[in-house]
Amino acid sequence: MSRLEMVREKVNEVILNMEKQSKIPSAFAHLYGVSLAATMIAKKRGEDVELASIAGMLHDIQAYKSGSYNDHAHIGASVAKELLVELNQFSTEEIEKICSAIFNHDDKELIHSSFDEVLKDADVIHHTLNDTSKDIKEKEKERYQNLMKEFELD
Ligand SMILES: [Fe+2]
Ligand SMILES: [Fe+2]
Repeated sequence: MSRLEMVREKVNEVILNMEKQSKIPSAFAHLYGVSLAATMIAKKRGEDVELASIAGMLHDIQAYKSGSYNDHAHIGASVAKELLVELNQFSTEEIEKICSAIFNHDDKELIHSSFDEVLKDADVIHHTLNDTSKDIKEKEKERYQNLMKEFELD
């Protein structure tokens, strides 16, 4: 089993145990969607593809675990760290890299490391392209436009 599959097994468990059962399909769609988008962006930018897809799978784990988005990025980084340490498949550096991206992912108006930016942009791709009939949030407009340029979709 690949490391990504190991992480997915753990994440699946969390999602399937969500209190709000009606939110399960959208939670899966979002995490797998962000994971896929992160893979694509990482490939394009020469970032670590495997770690990007894993960060995508884990980035909102706290929100789905607790049912609240309150400080979910910062708390989620610790939750993800615990899960990754427990799996015993990742180096300290890899865990730091993944968890830094999760920690910073909700600060969309700031620029962090090039790897952190992959996760933020992947989150924006899913928010904006999952249903193009929906309005794009003000705070995601600039990133969205930059992504459309980067991927020549505008
Ligand atoms: Fe989030
Ligand atoms: Fe998200």
